[in-house]
Amino acid sequence: MVTRVRSAAVRIGVVDTLRCAIGVLVPMLAQGVIRRRPRIVRLAQRFDLDRRGAELLHRLRYRHGSGPLRLAVPGRSVAVVLDAADAERLLTGSPDPFAPATTEKVAALRHFQPHGVLASRGPARAVRRAANERALDAGRAMHHAADAIVTKIRDEVAALDGDALDWPCFAPTFDRIIRRVVLGDAARGDTDLTSELNHLRSAANWAYLRPRDERRRARFQNRVDGYVARADPESLAGALPRDPASDPAGQVPHWLFAFDAAGITAFRALALLGSDPARRARAAADAGPLLPYVRACVLDTVRLWPTTLVVLRESTRDTDWGGTLLRRGTTFVIPSAFHHRDPTATPHADEFVPEEWTGADVHPRRSVFPFSAGPAVCPGRDVVLLTVSTVVSAVLRRFPDLRAVDPLRPPLPGTLDHTSLRMVWHG
Ligand code: HEM
Repeated sequence: MVTRVRSAAVRIGVVDTLRCAIGVLVPMLAQGVIRRRPRIVRLAQRFDLDRRGAELLHRLRYRHGSGPLRLAVPGRSVAVVLDAADAERLLTGSPDPFAPATTEKVAALRHFQPHGVLASRGPARAVRRAANERALDAGRAMHHAADAIVTKIRDEVAALDGDALDWPCFAPTFDRIIRRVVLGDAARGDTDLTSELNHLRSAANWAYLRPRDERRRARFQNRVDGYVARADPESLAGALPRDPASDPAGQVPHWLFAFDAAGITAFRALALLGSDPARRARAAADAGPLLPYVRACVLDTVRLWPTTLVVLRESTRDTDWGGTLLRRGTTFVIPSAFHHRDPTATPHADEFVPEEWTGADVHPRRSVFPFSAGPAVCPGRDVVLLTVSTVVSAVLRRFPDLRAVDPLRPPLPGTLDHTSLRMVWHG
C-alpha cells in the first residue's frame, strides 16, 4: 500500500547532482562521518564549507521545489530531503517502511558494531532496541544510575588543572568519564580500549571501500565482553538485560562511539558559554539535578552543530511521494544542519539561543531534531543530556570566569572545529 503526501519528489539533472555531490556530500564524507578527521574539519571551517553546502541546498530548493530531490545516480535511487514535513514522515515511519539500517550505514558500522541496533533490521532490531531503551532508561530525564554518573563526572572534572582548557586536555578527561559511565570504574584507565575503537572507527569512515579488520574488532569486542560480564551495577552496561537474543555486549560499542559526540558537544557548549558572560553566569547558577538552563544550552549547541551530520533512511517498499513512485531501496538523505539552521524558518538560525528550548527540552520548530525523532529516536538522548549538562555545569562551577580565547559570535560558523577551541580562566 502507498500513502499520499503533498510534496512531490523531483528528479534533478546531472549538473545539479554533481553540484550537490561536490558541495554537500563530499565535504560531509571527507570530514569523517564516523570519526572526525580534524585536519579536514579545520579546512572545512576555514572555507565555511557546511554553510556553503546549505546555501547550495537552498538554491536547489528554490529552483526545484521542496520535495525530495532525486539525484541522477546511475543504478541507485537517492533523494535529498529538504522539507521538514518530509523529514518528519521519514522519521515517524522508521524502522518500517523507512529503515535506519541503510546500505551505507551498515557497511560503515560493521567495522566495529555489526550487532548494534542501528545496523539491525526486523526482529533482531526490535529486541536490540528494547535492550537499549531499558539500559539507557530512554524517556527518563534521570537515569536510575544518575547519582553515580554525577559523582564520576564531578570526580574527573575536579582533576582538571592548569590555567587553560583545550581539546588535548579535555578529551582524555571526557574519555575517562565515558569509560566509567558506560563500563564502570574498572575501565577508567583502559586507554587501549578507546584507541582500539578509534582505529576501527577511522576504518569505518571508509565503509565498504576498506576491508574490515576482523582481528582488531574481535580483540576490541572481547575486551568489551569482559567488562559486560563483570558488569558494575552502576554502569550503563550493568543495566543491560541478559537475554542473549538482544546481544547485550554487541550494543556497547555504539555507546562508546556515540559518547564521543557528547564530549564534542560539551566542549562546544563551554566555548559558547565562554563567549557570552551573561549566559555563562546564568548557566553556572543553574541549580537542581536537571540543570534546565544548561540542558537548553547543550541542546542548542547540538542544534547548531549536529554531531550526526546526515540522517539516512532506506525504504523497505515502494513509496509514493506526491505522485512520484520511489522504488524500494531508495536512500533518503536528511542533512541535519540544513534543517536546524533554516533561515527561512527563523531569524536566529545562526545564533546561540538556548532560551528557545522550552522546559520539556522541546524546540518550537519541528525541523530541529538533533537526536532524530520518532520510533528510532536516539535512546541515549536522556542519559546524554544528563551527562553533558553535568560536565558543563561542573566545569563552570570550577572555573567561573572561563572565557573563550577566540569568542564565538553570530553569525556562528557552519563548521566548528572543536579541536581548535581554547578557553582560559584567571582574568
Ligand atoms: C551528542 C550526543 C548524541 C547525539 C547528538 C545523538 C544523536 C543520535 C541520532 C541523530 C541518532 C539517529 C541516527 C540515525 O538514525 O541514523 C541516534 C541513534 C542512536 N543513538 Fe544517539 N546520539 C548521541 C549520543 C548517544 C549515546 C551516548 C548513546 C548511548 C549511550 C546513543 C545511543 C544511540 C543508539 C543506540 C541509536 C540507534 C537507535 C536506533 O537505531 O533505534 N546516542 N543518536
